[in-house]
Amino acid sequence: MVLELQQIDGLAQELAGLHPADIIKRAQQEYGEDLAISFSGAEDVVLIDMASRTGLPFRVFTLDTGRLHSQTYKFMEQVRDRYHVNIEAYTPQPEPLQYLVTTKGYFSFYEDGHEECCSIRKVEPLRRALAGVRAYVTGQRKDQSPGTRADIPVVQHDTGFSTPGHDLVKFNPLANWSSAKVWQYIREHETPYNPLHDVGFRSIGCEPCTKATNPGEHEREGRWWWEEATKRECGLHIINLGNEPSSVI
Ligand code: ADX
Ligand code: SF4
Repeated sequence: MVLELQQIDGLAQELAGLHPADIIKRAQQEYGEDLAISFSGAEDVVLIDMASRTGLPFRVFTLDTGRLHSQTYKFMEQVRDRYHVNIEAYTPQPEPLQYLVTTKGYFSFYEDGHEECCSIRKVEPLRRALAGVRAYVTGQRKDQSPGTRADIPVVQHDTGFSTPGHDLVKFNPLANWSSAKVWQYIREHETPYNPLHDVGFRSIGCEPCTKATNPGEHEREGRWWWEEATKRECGLHIINLGNEPSSVI
């Protein structure tokens, strides 16, 4: 049965106290092939591990920005083999990307901010990925970003990426888990993980925009560190900022 949007808040309350594995199972049961896991190649691998244990089919997509670490690409291969799952890769449209790198070079984000590059390499590909599903699953957690993620529910109507006639439901099963809980799960289930985590990377995105953090620093300090802390969202989770995406390519 398809969920009505009016039922989402009730479902969020119902699922809020559940184990993330139970939330994912419920999402799989509800949406089947119309659901996909949005996988960044970091500790969100636990979502794939949990989905695989339900015995139900599941889909995975990634936004291949072309700027991920080689370790992340290798890790994706490991995940593909371990879980026997195709990782649907969404890559940037060539024309805007060619124009950006031709006119501004490969590191323009250090000069004029990450929004332009992220909108070409991440946000527009996400739009295409989401056109093929009715619901998706992310690895967002409240503790990842006190400024922008403190209030995320375990399931929500994604008003940032829904379009007229195509409403999207966004599951955030790890919302109420801490980083420590995620790592406990990885150890207990011997889940493969990105080796960058062993050398100080706690939050992993594109190579030029991600760095290792020191003990005591928040994990978000390792992302877009040259920009104000309030701007450290790339547009994938625009509803966390309470407004619509600023550009549609
Ligand atoms: S980001 O918006 O700042 O880049 P973050 O790295 O915290 O996001 O990851 C949170 C969740 O967003 C991931 O668990 C994943 O669901 C989704 N996500 C982030 N980057 C990607 C990506 N490149 N491909 C697919 N999903 C992604
Ligand atoms: Fe571009 Fe950096 Fe955004 Fe990746 S994170 S898309 S390299 S600005």
